[in-house]
Amino acid sequence: MSAVKVTDRISAVSILNPAMRIFDVVMKTEYGTSYNSYIVRGDEKAALIETSHVTFFSHYVEMIKQVCDPSEIEYIVLNHCEPDHSGSLRDLLDLCPNAKICVSRAGSIYLKGITNRDDLPLVIAKDGDSIDLGGATLKFIPAPFLHWPDSMFTYCEEERTVFTCDMLGSHYCEPYIYDTAVTYPAKYFEALKGYYDAIFGPFKPYVRAGLEKLSNLDYDFACTSHGPILTRDGKLNEVLRLYNEWSAQVQGEVDIPVFYCSAYGNTEKLAQAISRGILRAKPDAKSEAIDINSVEMSVLQARLNASTAFAVGSPTINSDAVAPVWELLSHVDAINSKKRPALVFGSYGWSGEAVGNITARLNGLRMSVFEDGLKVTFVPSDEDIKNAEELGFRFASSF
Ligand SMILES: Cc1cc2nc3c(=O)[nH]c(=O)nc-3n(C[C@H](O)[C@H](O)[C@H](O)COP(=O)(O)O)c2cc1C
Ligand SMILES: [Fe+2]
Ligand SMILES: [Fe+2]
Repeated sequence: MSAVKVTDRISAVSILNPAMRIFDVVMKTEYGTSYNSYIVRGDEKAALIETSHVTFFSHYVEMIKQVCDPSEIEYIVLNHCEPDHSGSLRDLLDLCPNAKICVSRAGSIYLKGITNRDDLPLVIAKDGDSIDLGGATLKFIPAPFLHWPDSMFTYCEEERTVFTCDMLGSHYCEPYIYDTAVTYPAKYFEALKGYYDAIFGPFKPYVRAGLEKLSNLDYDFACTSHGPILTRDGKLNEVLRLYNEWSAQVQGEVDIPVFYCSAYGNTEKLAQAISRGILRAKPDAKSEAIDINSVEMSVLQARLNASTAFAVGSPTINSDAVAPVWELLSHVDAINSKKRPALVFGSYGWSGEAVGNITARLNGLRMSVFEDGLKVTFVPSDEDIKNAEELGFRFASSF
């Protein structure tokens, strides 16, 4: 791809990576991604906003050279220091001997760890600080946790453009850089939601704060760091509306799902009894026993992470809990699950490690695990079922 003009003074020098399928270890990127970067040219100075993934360095430098000589760049603005944006910085500094790096204070600390350099020419960008390029001003606006604590937006009032970094971005790649040129809008919006869930799902209050800050700016272009540039004539208003909807505070019902796996129906019986006890304590709550193997993992994950509290049960098979239970617990939103009440149970034959091992995992996530959990040998007796129901009742009465 070549450099593309966005406004009179702004050019995109973005790398397209349509082949990428996994980002940051955990995100599936069915439609690839792009590493967007921009050059703002004032009458006197030029600034580069974001750099690129280091893999693409030589191609990236070629594109920069289509816009200006790298030695003319006087500022490199890093709205966020994750290596998809900062990866090329180290090598780029050799080509931009005059460049100072504008980052938030948190970013300045991370950047030292990322580049292993103490001598970086840093400018700490504080709330409302700006740099004058001559006819174009860049103003810095903190946007913490969008996506890391260091994140900020950069606003160019004269060009009616805001650089939002990961916010409003998407792992979506077509051979064009504008939202108006997107050929498959349904796939784009699917990618937008996937990106939102993975990156911003845990940070809803910060998303609301970011949207509030954006609403105070006058702009026609949101230059994100992944996926298409958003424009007022294109998808910008719809993307903002969706972000508002997805990050809204919902006063949901009390939901206490009881997840389980069961080879011979024993742990299942305990799950049903526990759920009955929960509903006796909280008749208005939602609770049912859910066989982990019979529901899509993404649905289970969403239910667990939105729950008020939950119970999880596994038989002991070969000295441990079973794999589907571990998979579910690998999807816990650890940031927002601290102190979430949880109850552990399971049937076993002789050694019964499952309940202890699950409890250790939940304690590691800093959840609030209830009592010692419930372990029953083989087939639950009538008394075991009564105990399980009582335990469910005590559990749901405890929060
Ligand atoms: C393949 C297999 C391996 C097992 N391994 C263990 C074990 O290591 N320790 C143990 O306490 N019980 C073990 N059990 C016994 C089960 O935990 C026990 O039968 C339990 O009641 C099954 O509960 P479920 O019907 O909910 O699956 C094993 C059972 C099977 C079928
Ligand atoms: Fe990021
Ligand atoms: Fe990113």
